[in-house]
Amino acid sequence: MDEALFILGVSGSPRHGATEYCVKEALLAAQEQGKAMGVRVETKMISLAQKKVSFCLHCDRCIREKALCHIKDDMQEFYPLIIEAQGFVVASPVYNMNVSAQLQAFFNRWRPIYHLNPSHVRGKVGGAIAIGGTRNGGQEMAVSAIVHHYLTRGMIVVGPEPGYYSGGMVWSQDKKEDGCRNDMRGMESVRQVGRRVVEVSAKMRGLTGNERG
Ligand SMILES: Cc1cc2nc3c(=O)[nH]c(=O)nc-3n(C[C@H](O)[C@H](O)[C@H](O)COP(=O)(O)O)c2cc1C
Repeated sequence: MDEALFILGVSGSPRHGATEYCVKEALLAAQEQGKAMGVRVETKMISLAQKKVSFCLHCDRCIREKALCHIKDDMQEFYPLIIEAQGFVVASPVYNMNVSAQLQAFFNRWRPIYHLNPSHVRGKVGGAIAIGGTRNGGQEMAVSAIVHHYLTRGMIVVGPEPGYYSGGMVWSQDKKEDGCRNDMRGMESVRQVGRRVVEVSAKMRGLTGNERG
């Protein structure tokens, strides 16, 4: 139980609502999975609510100078966490059948991390979650955008269990946490994503501690 697995959750909503709730639930499930496998799991959540993450300007300074982005905003406090994380649970509210602009800006700003050293993210495990106000409001599209971000960075994508398809997908009815709770199947898919991220990350790192691993 010595070496801990560090799982980073990311909420891509500009407010404290459904998306943060789902990330927290996924991270709790991740910790439970760690206990079941005899693996110590540490979790942290980045919330983009009230944070300033500027657009990538494509100045290419990061590539020329082999450095993290020079823009002085909240991304500076996120870079070390992204580099340190061994697994990711990224969630977005569905905005216009896609991820939020906040999350897209956050993803774009990963460019220097990868170019500085691909192994900062390459080969790490990621799961995706999307929460929409409508039953079929574009959760699959938003999950797909997150999955493609992972693939762009050479990461390993995990979904929930078979039958739940490509990611955690929740119908919030625009009622934040209360709405999510009503979508029991959706919340089950969220928890499965948290569990699977730990299961696969731990196995890849040879951290399985008992027979349930
Ligand atoms: C600008 C904007 C666009 C939205 N577009 C969609 C959409 O395309 N499909 C959908 O189901 N819900 C859409 N919604 C509703 C949110 O996805 C939903 O309320 C979500 O649960 C918000 O998560 P939060 O509480 O974490 O902010 C939109 C909301 C906003 C503000």
